[in-house]
Amino acid sequence: MKIAFYSTKPYDKTWFEPMGKEYGFDIHFIEASCNRETVFMTKGYDAICIFVNDYVDAQMIDDLCEMGVKAVLLRSAGYNHVDIKAAEGKIAVLRVPSYSPEAVAEFAMAMLLTVNRWTHKAYNRTREFNMSLHGLMGMDLFGKTAGVVGTGKIGQAMINIFNGFGMRVLCYDPYPAKGLKAEYVSLEELLASSEVVSLHCPLTKETQHLINKDTIKIMKDGVYLVNTSRGALVDTDALIDALLQKKFGGVGLDVYEEEEGLFYEDCSGEIITDDNLARLMTFPNVLVTSHMGFFTKEAMQAIARTTLENAYAVEKGLPLDNRVGNVH
Ligand code: NAI
Repeated sequence: MKIAFYSTKPYDKTWFEPMGKEYGFDIHFIEASCNRETVFMTKGYDAICIFVNDYVDAQMIDDLCEMGVKAVLLRSAGYNHVDIKAAEGKIAVLRVPSYSPEAVAEFAMAMLLTVNRWTHKAYNRTREFNMSLHGLMGMDLFGKTAGVVGTGKIGQAMINIFNGFGMRVLCYDPYPAKGLKAEYVSLEELLASSEVVSLHCPLTKETQHLINKDTIKIMKDGVYLVNTSRGALVDTDALIDALLQKKFGGVGLDVYEEEEGLFYEDCSGEIITDDNLARLMTFPNVLVTSHMGFFTKEAMQAIARTTLENAYAVEKGLPLDNRVGNVH
């Protein structure tokens, strides 16, 4: 099987190159991202392999089919960057449903601990021998209420972590799971009652801008918000307005609405034209990271394994267990 591998970074090769050889695949590593301009590079390939800031829209699906590409292999759990409806009946789209939910949940906790206890500021201060504690006071998490929006694999891992910190945990999900050490409540109640809110639902039409001007109003003053899910769950304009009004104790953003083309790239020598992102960077209580919640050895290994198993299933005509959508 010939696979065109978009948005390649050195760490992708570390895992995919040796494992791809095990399967006898011919993987062509491409640095460019997958978009309308680059989709034509896949002529002669059996499958394309893409990451979260690539996209495949309806027109590109037709282009891929015309070029004989049989599968879109996602190196991710989320699939909001592919037009799944347009793909149905035309091309198989396969994802990695679960690789390491703990990797993302642990990172979400790291973000919360950072903005709450100011370790990002303390790190810089002590390096200059500024040992003052002024402005670095945080709050105990023990005994506080955490709200988890979306109780799938990552949300459940997050609930376990919050419980480990001795927090009361509220959660919201239209499809509740059984046996969780957390109390299901309405989204409004969760937002009104939580000192910490962590987002773990997928990006859909319903969840787009779930955190907006109105829902922020419901939240407690001094609330901590962590988004490791998808950027567009949060209306950035509304977030910035609220930050300016000192609504938030702290905000951790591993994802950002307009991250495509910026995240995963070294833009340090460039003029940043995204005013919202530039503004977010100016708040001392906001931590922005570059969509790296997944980035552990264990997760990378599991992503490579499942992605290549998905390719193998396509090649051998086996059942496509990780296919997204219903019909192929
Ligand atoms: P999952 O599919 O196991 O769980 C998602 C949960 O969200 C489900 O229980 C679903 O019922 C719930 N949900 C759906 N609509 C909802 C709504 N309107 N309100 C509240 N909950 C809703 O997915 P998983 O593996 O837990 O991943 C969650 C999200 O995390 C992914 O969609 C992806 O966007 C993001 N992610 C981020 C990573 C990172 O590196 N930062 C890595 C992996 C995933």
